[in-house]
Amino acid sequence: MTSDTDKRAAAIAAVGEIQPGMLVGLGTGSTAAHAVAALADRVRAGLRITAVVTSKATEALAQSHGLTVLPFDDVPQVDLTIDGVDQIDPALRAIKGGGGAMLREKIVAAASTRMIAIADGSKRVAQLDRAIPVEILPFARAFVLRRLADLGGPAVLRATRSDQHNLLADAAFGPIADPAALAAELSAIPGLLGHGLFLDEIDATCIADDGGIVWQKR
Ligand code: A5P
Repeated sequence: MTSDTDKRAAAIAAVGEIQPGMLVGLGTGSTAAHAVAALADRVRAGLRITAVVTSKATEALAQSHGLTVLPFDDVPQVDLTIDGVDQIDPALRAIKGGGGAMLREKIVAAASTRMIAIADGSKRVAQLDRAIPVEILPFARAFVLRRLADLGGPAVLRATRSDQHNLLADAAFGPIADPAALAAELSAIPGLLGHGLFLDEIDATCIADDGGIVWQKR
């Protein structure tokens, strides 16, 4: 069962890794929101950092806490990104994008020297099997949905759009035996702008179970 207390505990532990002077990537979602709050506590206590964000929601949250947010398009490299996941397997491969921010999240993760995934224990799975969030160029809607169905992942469109005003959908492939092969197939669909399979980006996980923190590093 999901635990907000454990999400917060994982977030606080990961924020402890942030060093003075770092440029920090801030993820999106309820767990990442705890990290923003924990970071703001450290900044109020004297830590000096700057930040980039993975969504408009996190930008508003970070600014409401008084954090200094830089435009990502001015930033070639991020020191450490902390973000949540929807599912994560023992090889640190994850599905993200429940909040629809996976395109920006993956860009910021790729730009980061180090990425820590934070979660409560409910996100840990033996095999990824959740529907994969995808971002679709509106022009290509019917084409991309057809391609996804042909690949074995019928997709359901969300009512909401991404921060880039593109379509969002969730493609249900069932248990994913070969995440790398599926990621390559998704990335090859023209008009599919981003997907929630994060296979290489995560360097460490910080997961809380009933208050106990477990770190796993790649
Ligand atoms: C946002 O698009 C997502 O990738 C989130 O990071 C992910 O869905 C985890 O969200 P929660 O922390 O709210 O579970």
